[in-house]
Amino acid sequence: MSEVEIRQVLREDAGWKKAFEDFYSACGVRRVGRRRHAYFAAWAGAELAGHSVVLFDKGRWVMDGLLVKPEFREKGIAKKLTEARIRYAVGQGAAEIWYACEDGNLVTTCCHLRYGFEKVCPAHHHCSIATAHWYRLKVTPALFRKFPALRPGEGMNAYSAV
Ligand SMILES: CC(C)(COP(=O)(O)OP(=O)(O)OC[C@H]1O[C@@H](n2cnc3c(N)ncnc32)[C@H](O)[C@@H]1OP(=O)(O)O)[C@@H](O)C(=O)NCCC(=O)NCCS
Repeated sequence: MSEVEIRQVLREDAGWKKAFEDFYSACGVRRVGRRRHAYFAAWAGAELAGHSVVLFDKGRWVMDGLLVKPEFREKGIAKKLTEARIRYAVGQGAAEIWYACEDGNLVTTCCHLRYGFEKVCPAHHHCSIATAHWYRLKVTPALFRKFPALRPGEGMNAYSAV
């Protein structure tokens, strides 16, 4: 059993930047720059096992960049990273949380629909529900009744991945 710890990246220092570039080298995810954001990482000791971000973009809290290293998959890490990001955005006052994704992407299937994200065409976008790539979660009391771990202040920082 190896301990995997989910933590917000509080210092975007040189060590983390190098780990970030290496981690996303195959899929070209860029850092979010000056937009309000929080990165969440899953650490197995000193090894980066998973990584993700939630950022405030054009008036919306948006989740992005969810990636778990193949050897750490199917241990619940992506779910924990998603819950951490939702909690963070709710704590920042988000009434809605968004992300964009291709149809049929495993990220959607595994980690977002379960919480109640629904496909929508955002205002001022030229799309229909059939062609939209945006998903929205409305933050409601019912969400917290169903998923108490999404309340800000809830949830564990560390857990065991088997
Ligand atoms: C999708 C991804 C993030 C899932 O990570 P993970 O840590 O393995 O996911 P979890 O262990 O938290 O699983 C969450 C749920 O999805 C299910 N799941 C995960 N991988 C699955 C798979 N390959 N097939 C079917 N179900 C799967 C799990 O069983 C779990 O469901 P459950 O709670 O009902 O049992 C991971 O496979 C990945 O990083 N894929 C590549 C993503 C990518 O290309 N991102 C682009 C950014 S560069």
